[in-house]
Amino acid sequence: MTLRAVVAGVGHYLPARVVPNSEFERTLDTSDEWIRSRSGIERRHIAAPGETTSGMATQAALAALRDAGLGPDDVDAIVLATSTADLTFPSAATMVQAELGMTRGFAFDVQAVCAGFIYALTNANALIVSGQANRVLVIGAETFSRIMDWSDRSTCVLFGDGAGALVLEAAQGTGTNADRGVLSTDLNSDGRHREILYVDGGVSTQTTGHLRMEGKEVFRHAVEKLAATATTALTKVGLTGQDVDWVVPHQANIRIIQGTAKKLGLPMDRVVVTVQDHGNTSAASIPLALSVGQERGQIKPGDLVVTEAIGGGLAWGAVVLRW
Ligand code: UT7
Repeated sequence: MTLRAVVAGVGHYLPARVVPNSEFERTLDTSDEWIRSRSGIERRHIAAPGETTSGMATQAALAALRDAGLGPDDVDAIVLATSTADLTFPSAATMVQAELGMTRGFAFDVQAVCAGFIYALTNANALIVSGQANRVLVIGAETFSRIMDWSDRSTCVLFGDGAGALVLEAAQGTGTNADRGVLSTDLNSDGRHREILYVDGGVSTQTTGHLRMEGKEVFRHAVEKLAATATTALTKVGLTGQDVDWVVPHQANIRIIQGTAKKLGLPMDRVVVTVQDHGNTSAASIPLALSVGQERGQIKPGDLVVTEAIGGGLAWGAVVLRW
C-alpha cells in the first residue's frame, strides 16, 4: 500500500471587476488586436480597492471545502502560494486560517512566483505522504494588479488577480500510476536568470516595486523548460504525453501553451485554457484553471492531469496527478 494525496475538492474566486483589452486603448499605445494576437488574453479580473490576497484566498478555500463537503477544522494544514501577500508578515496562509475560523493545524506561504502552485502542491503532497497531515488546503492567490507599472504596456496588459484552491486528502493507493492523487513532481530553479523577470522593490529597499520583464527572453525559456519538466515528471512514473487526458498549464500566453503542448505531442483539445478570461494570475493560474476545468466538465475523476508552470527566479516545475 502507498499513501497518496488525492484531490477531494476544488474551488476558485475571481474579483467582480472585469477589464477588457479595449480599456487599455484609452491610456496606452496598445490595441485589443495586439494583446489578443501576442498573448491570447481578452480580459482579466482586477481586485477592488481594499480587496486582498488573503481575502480572495479565503473565498477560494471556502469553495474548495464546499466541493469536498468538509469544514475548516477537517483540514490539518494550509499551504498558500503567493508573491503578493497582504503584509510582510504574518503569512497570508495564517490570515486565511483565521478567516476560515480554523482553530488547529498549521499554515505557511510558499513563494515561487508563477511556479508557486506547483511548489505548494509538491510541499502539500510531501506533508501527506510523510504522515504530517491528512488533509491540506493548497491555495494559489495573487493581487498582481498592485505590482503593475500601469504605464508599461509590455507588462500591465498581461496580468490579472484571482485565487484557486484544492483540498488534498490522504488515501491508500496501490503504488501504481493507476492510483488517484499526486503521482510525481519535478521542481527546478535557476537564479542566474533573475534579471529577465523580477520586481524592482521589496522590504529591504522599503518600496513595493513594480514587475519588470523581458518578455521575449522569458518566452524563450518557457516552452523548452515546461516541456522538459512535464516530460521528466511523466517519465518518473512510466508515462508519456500519450497517457495524458488534460494538460493544465500556467496561463501566461496562449503561444507558450500551444508550443508546450506541441512539444509534448498533445492536441489543444486536451489542454485546459483560461488565459483569455483571466490573463496571467501567477500562482493562482493553475488552481483557477483546475477549478474552471472541472466546472466546464473537462476534468473528470480518474483523468490523468499534468500541470506545469514557470516564472520569476527562474523557477519551474510540473506535477502529474490522477484526478
Ligand atoms: O508568468 C511568468 C512568465 N511570463 C511569461 O510567460 C511571459 C512570456 N512572454 C510573453 O508572453 C511575450 O513575450 C509577450 C506577450 C510579453 C510579448 O510578445 P512578443 O511577441 O515577445 O513581443 P515583443 O516583446 O517582441 O514585442 C514586439 C513589439 C515591440 O515593439 P518593437 O520593439 O518591435 O517596435 C514592443 O514594444 O511589440 C511592442 N509591444 C506592444 N505593442 C502594443 C509590447 N507591448 C505592447 C503592447 N501593445 N501592449
